[in-house]
Amino acid sequence: MPLTQHRTTLTQFLIEERRRYPHASGDFNSLILNVALACKSIARAVAFGALGGVLGQAGDAVNVQGETQQKLDVLSNNAFLRLNEWGGYLAGMASEEMESVYQIPGTYPKGKYLLVFDPLDGSSNIDVNVSVGSIFSVLRAPDGVSDVTEQDFLQPGSEQVAAGYAIYGPTTMLVLTVGTGANGFTLDPNLGEFILTHPALQIPPDTQEFAINASNSRFWEAPVKRYVDECLAGKSGVREKDFNMRWIASMVAEAHRILMRGGVFLYPRDTKHPAKHGRLRLLYEANPIGFIMEQAGGRASTGRESVLQVQPASLHQRIGLVFGSRNEVDRIEYYHQHPEPIELDNPLFHERGLFRLPA
Ligand code: AHG
Ligand code: MN
Ligand code: MN
Repeated sequence: MPLTQHRTTLTQFLIEERRRYPHASGDFNSLILNVALACKSIARAVAFGALGGVLGQAGDAVNVQGETQQKLDVLSNNAFLRLNEWGGYLAGMASEEMESVYQIPGTYPKGKYLLVFDPLDGSSNIDVNVSVGSIFSVLRAPDGVSDVTEQDFLQPGSEQVAAGYAIYGPTTMLVLTVGTGANGFTLDPNLGEFILTHPALQIPPDTQEFAINASNSRFWEAPVKRYVDECLAGKSGVREKDFNMRWIASMVAEAHRILMRGGVFLYPRDTKHPAKHGRLRLLYEANPIGFIMEQAGGRASTGRESVLQVQPASLHQRIGLVFGSRNEVDRIEYYHQHPEPIELDNPLFHERGLFRLPA
């Protein structure tokens, strides 16, 4: 980046946001900048790949999800912990890779925020050189808390102070919301700085692109089957337009595509594992991505209700997740709320009928 051309850095962006709150201590900015530093260090490890000796599994280690940990899962988790535990702004942390909440070591001061993260999302893609990412969510710690408990983290997504993700793709980007819209920053590899390149992201309300793991179709609930069938029917079906399908198996990469050009992502609740209400985790996958989607004019839902309204019951709770272009998410919710098959040739459902379907 030529220095003659002014571009807003992440630091400048945060300082300018902070000026709106004259009494702010600067703790929040330190938190975001250290999260960004963790993401930069993970980006470098990912970029070196096999040359850095970071590919493959971390021995036989299995995380609380029952998934085999990759070396990069462990390395990324440590980057988040080490770069954030010392700063005095956190009361505690929680991670996909740790069964229990993480206490700030006694040698460091404690602060008023909680940090929750998925240090490496899409880790099944690491060894095949497909984009992966990190996802984080910032909550307020209850007043006066010293040793945090799981209960302190069980706040609905609507309580998030900030959320974001980094994507380690052809370029490394950080997408952040502090509740005033969603902004995208691109890592300048020469300066090692995130530069604001995608201000005020907006997701188009309509789309012709959907993402779902179709190998699960036999486990889908009726509303999801109906939605996908209608998309696949294309021009000749009730949607009267052709759809494209995408599946990267890296939610961060899907979320990023949807933020850039619209689309809808579904990892719905299904009957594959009836005890689990979905595949993705509420606190460090669904909530932060949901917050970003809503801040960019999109929506995020469990299929039944807005994901940000869900009261979490446990740290690693899973949930059905649908997000992206607003009118598609509305439609999928409508199908869940009206599960009976609708006779589409019934005049009540026609354009001017009583029960007009969402556009
Ligand atoms: P993680 O790597 O953090 O465990 O998350 C992987 C998630 C998500 O990124 C992706 O959308 C989904 O798992 C892929 O699931 P399938 O393997 O069922 O396609
Ligand atoms: Mn994940
Ligand atoms: Mn992960």
